Amino acid sequence: MAPDIAFDLTLEHGRCVGVTLPEAAEAVDALAETLAAAERARAFDLPIPRRRTWTGGRAAMREALGRLGFPADAVATDDRGAPVLPPGVRGSITHKERIAAAMVALESSACVGVDVEMDIARSHDIASRVLRDAERAELVGLDAAGRAREVLLRFSAKEAIYKALDPFVRRYVDFKEMSVSPRPGGAALVTPYLREGEGPFAIEVRWRRFDGIVLTTARIERVGQPR
Ligand SMILES: CC(C)(COP(=O)(O)OP(=O)(O)OC[C@H]1O[C@@H](n2cnc3c(N)ncnc32)[C@H](O)[C@@H]1OP(=O)(O)O)[C@@H](O)C(=O)NCCC(=O)NCCS
Repeated sequence: MAPDIAFDLTLEHGRCVGVTLPEAAEAVDALAETLAAAERARAFDLPIPRRRTWTGGRAAMREALGRLGFPADAVATDDRGAPVLPPGVRGSITHKERIAAAMVALESSACVGVDVEMDIARSHDIASRVLRDAERAELVGLDAAGRAREVLLRFSAKEAIYKALDPFVRRYVDFKEMSVSPRPGGAALVTPYLREGEGPFAIEVRWRRFDGIVLTTARIERVGQPR
């Protein structure tokens, strides 16, 4: 079964393909059958909810790599949980309830990250967990719905950053070790507060909202001498 392509975007940080996740378990299995042998074996080892997202992520990655001209080889997972891509390619995977997406870029020194969130109000407020005080102060004056959307956007951007940053720092980075201020038009001001002082890094974030989702991407490169 060919994946149902939800979007195919050429973004500043890479080519990003989204796949609509099939609902029925049989359809998930049919999609898993289209993966490379090693991916297929991994998929069928997973319980159905995880098989669905894992398969969707790998299917999206296969589509994204194919668009850059790479063959449909299996994409392994490294010891940190990140996808292992061919030399000279960096990429990232994300999945939510109804969608999986993968972004790939021809990069050697920079790393990239992608995150998708459903653009709907959450029942619980995550601001105190994911935002620094100064970030929360930027949201004063917004109504509840607007504030929730802004919190979600920042959360998503930080997850995209995490995926691009982890290959450099290889440790859990708390949400409050990064400040993100999205700007109108899809850019963001990013300031790191890395607890262990890693870097310096050039950290870029881009974001967009469409079709009921928030899509964020990050690109991170080491600049200058390590501190
Ligand atoms: C790793 C993490 C970002 C994944 O986010 P999530 O909302 O759980 O899930 P998503 O669907 O968006 O992404 C899952 C994908 O992330 C990728 N991933 C997992 N660990 C990763 C890592 N260490 N580095 C890069 N990518 C990773 C995988 O490809 C995974 O999909 P797969 O297992 O099907 O291949 C999240 O679980 C996490 O640990 N966050 C740490 C805290 C954080 O984000 N801090 C922000 C600091 S700026």
